[in-house]
Amino acid sequence: MPSFRRTAFAAASLLSACGREAARDEPMTPEQRGRAAFAECAVCHSKEDPESDGYVKLVGPSLFAIYGARSAHIADYDYSAAMREANLVWDDATLDAFIENPQKVVPRTRMSYVGMADAEKRAALIAYLKTLK
Ligand code: HEC
Repeated sequence: MPSFRRTAFAAASLLSACGREAARDEPMTPEQRGRAAFAECAVCHSKEDPESDGYVKLVGPSLFAIYGARSAHIADYDYSAAMREANLVWDDATLDAFIENPQKVVPRTRMSYVGMADAEKRAALIAYLKTLK
């Protein structure tokens, strides 16, 4: 049998061995779409606990457990005065508005990100942020 067919056969038996159906395209959950959208944030934001071993500091504060936290809650991160004085709680409404247009919600924030225009993508991203804890 030609080798591509052998490979396909091997792959198919592997998949059925795991009890999964070979060619079913399941739609992504909001969390999965949010994880993909997080790529736009990941250049500047870690999702790891800043207290954990091996935490790598990036330009922005960690977004670990950001949902429900107060703005500027990480003690040893050097926030801008604007963020320190913003006095927000990061919930659905504040995260959505901030991700859409950071400068509008926290004028003079140091977060140099233009914003995410797609409302559905923001909702998925927020669903993903909720899982970081
Ligand atoms: C170019 C780098 C950069 C990108 C890209 C970026 N951020 Fe930020 N972000 C920052 C910086 C820097 C701060 C701190 C802002 C300040 O102190 O004014 C920040 C702050 C934040 C805060 C407030 C954190 C806190 O502890 O109060 C949230 C929430 C946030 N970013 C979410 C996001 C999300 C979600 C994305 C992706 C859509 C994103 N950021 C993309 C750099 C970035």
